[in-house]
Amino acid sequence: MDKNINTLEDLEKAVSTDNALPLGNSNLVFGEGNPNADVIFIGEAPGYYEDLEGRPFVGRAGKLLDKLIDALGWRRDDVYITNIVKRRPPENRDPMPDEIAAYTPYLTKQVEIINPKIIVPLGRFAMNYFLPTAKISRDQGKLFWWKEKLVIPMYHPAAALRSGDVLKELESSFARLPVVVKKFEKFLEEKEPTSREEEKEQKEQKRLF
Ligand code: URA
Repeated sequence: MDKNINTLEDLEKAVSTDNALPLGNSNLVFGEGNPNADVIFIGEAPGYYEDLEGRPFVGRAGKLLDKLIDALGWRRDDVYITNIVKRRPPENRDPMPDEIAAYTPYLTKQVEIINPKIIVPLGRFAMNYFLPTAKISRDQGKLFWWKEKLVIPMYHPAAALRSGDVLKELESSFARLPVVVKKFEKFLEEKEPTSREEEKEQKEQKRLF
């Protein structure tokens, strides 16, 4: 990764011209929203409609994400929305480990540039990038530290479209977001310094509610 990349525009240019990236037959869906957002939502990979429009979360799962954001009194433009893999896998299959590995340096840089307070991975693929040993059914809605940012993994909205129980859990995890944003500075002050070893083991897992 070029060290001189400091803006989302430069980063998008770099992803779009990186011919070594897999899934090169589909369109780039880089991400969109407030470049100074407090909260970034990270999905898995674009689907059919996202590929067509070049925008993340614009299909059925995206409509649910919009509704969940609206319910907080926030607007989609207030937050930033992207995916771990930035091109559509064929037939909407799960992203492969090598595809995730190829795109994650760009995601890491994107998060670094936006510098949000809260990272919300939607579903297990994005979650396991930040929290490699976390399990979505066990850990969704919990708070974790990752590089001085809070990570709150949540169910993928597509899973919530298939199950009423998942939808309820997703809604209640979403409902905590405004409080977590508001209390972020306080949480940061109270954060105990941790060793690398501890971070590795994710011992900073916290239930704040
Ligand atoms: N599902 C995702 O994970 N991301 C999108 O952008 C759309 C659907």
